[in-house]
Amino acid sequence: MRRINMEIKHLSFNLLILFSFIIHTNANASDCIYNIYVETGNIPYAETSSNITIFLRDNTKAELPVVNLRNWGLMGSAHHYFRPGEVDLFAGKGPCLRGPVCSLIIVLDGYDSWYCHSIQIITVGFGKSCSYKHFVVKKWLDVNAGSAVILQDECCYDAISFKTGY
Ligand SMILES: *[C@@H]1O[C@H](CO)[C@@H](O)[C@H](O)[C@H]1NC(C)=O
Ligand SMILES: *[C@@H]1O[C@H](CO)[C@@H](O)[C@H](O)[C@H]1NC(C)=O
Repeated sequence: MRRINMEIKHLSFNLLILFSFIIHTNANASDCIYNIYVETGNIPYAETSSNITIFLRDNTKAELPVVNLRNWGLMGSAHHYFRPGEVDLFAGKGPCLRGPVCSLIIVLDGYDSWYCHSIQIITVGFGKSCSYKHFVVKKWLDVNAGSAVILQDECCYDAISFKTGY
């Protein structure tokens, strides 16, 4: 049962990557810098050695995948990421989205669960105002409970925010 669950999870993970890649190729080429702070919950067993991938999304549902956050890690190669009560720093560049990040998909790929307390994203782009978003997640990404993918959507999808953009 567990094995089948793992396979389904890996399949859906691969589909997510593929799907986002298709969307991604439509994104604009002008780059933004994304600063990402990830806070692991300060509770027992919150720590994980799994890979965490996040998809940054705006209110037009354009998205940027950050595949395996450790690849964007700023804490040094010996650092142990995703420890209880700790905040890890990540940064990288990618195409600018059409508007501020207001939604996240968080995907755990691995064999041990993780409790995500919060994720903060600061986006900087040439000729654009900075955008800042703090997501209070407070959820388990649990490989056994089948919740290894979560959507944290805090966008306002009304006509006005579509027009304002950055
Ligand atoms: C992409 O960015 C350039 C500026 O870098 C801009 O001129 C162009 O309109 C943008 N395209 C889209 C589809 O947003
Ligand atoms: C995490 O990703 C790396 C490659 O980036 C891979 O070598 C490793 O096996 C992955 N770990 C897990 C637990 O999936």
